[in-house]
Amino acid sequence: MCWLDKKSLETMKKLRDEYNISTFLETGTFKGINAKVHSYNFKEVLTCDIKEEYLTDARKRLEPYKNVHVFAKSSPTFITDFIEQYKKDGRTDIVFMFLDAHFYDPNLPPEEKWVVINELKVLKGFKNAVLCLHDFDAQGLGHCTYDGVDLGWPLVKEDIIKVNPDFNFYTNKKEFCEIYDENTIKELPGIDLDEDTLSNIKYTHSTERLTYRGFLYATPTPLDLNKYSLIALDRNAEKA
Ligand SMILES: C[S@@+](CC[C@H](N)C(=O)[O-])C[C@H]1O[C@@H](n2cnc3c(N)ncnc32)[C@H](O)[C@@H]1O
Repeated sequence: MCWLDKKSLETMKKLRDEYNISTFLETGTFKGINAKVHSYNFKEVLTCDIKEEYLTDARKRLEPYKNVHVFAKSSPTFITDFIEQYKKDGRTDIVFMFLDAHFYDPNLPPEEKWVVINELKVLKGFKNAVLCLHDFDAQGLGHCTYDGVDLGWPLVKEDIIKVNPDFNFYTNKKEFCEIYDENTIKELPGIDLDEDTLSNIKYTHSTERLTYRGFLYATPTPLDLNKYSLIALDRNAEKA
């Protein structure tokens, strides 16, 4: 759960300020805890999921948060619809896109297995975005692996560069992770220690691989790394 990594939340807020971002778009709502946390950080939060059971829980949790909008849509459709409206509205602002609709389904055909790849395909040419891919194979940190394939640079490289050929890429590393526990997380606005939240914390702390998760960030301009707990990723690298 990315909201358990204090440093990654700080990075997202710095990127928000650097690019004057109002909209946080998330794919993969799950229980809505991340959307709730970011409702305190961004003017508007848009999030989508396809599982009715999760959507019901998330809507209940997010009901008081009027700046959060939950969509029952598959993420490529959600992103396509968002971009269409963004263009209709004549917007030029940068949008933070948190791509986290990772869910292993053995029944999906190979071309549908990685939702994130289909998200990147529909994002092709949408340059006004900062992208953040969670559960990414960065510096050996915890990440998704489906049927022996890692969610890593070789998998996403081709499609992410097509979103914006000028993108700059960054990852975290273990020394840059600072993980909340049941006590320290109380300081985080938007966190109530309800049953779902406690069970997410317990799950995340259950193994090192689940605790320390990798992130990939793509930004439209280079970042000053004196200000960020990130390392640059060379786009020609074999691996992040
Ligand atoms: C890793 S969880 C998201 C966690 C959440 N962002 C958080 O930080 O708490 C992945 C979610 O993606 C959802 N999902 C899977 N395929 C999807 C799709 N095509 N479109 C939208 N959501 C999808 C799953 O139902 C699941 O709730």
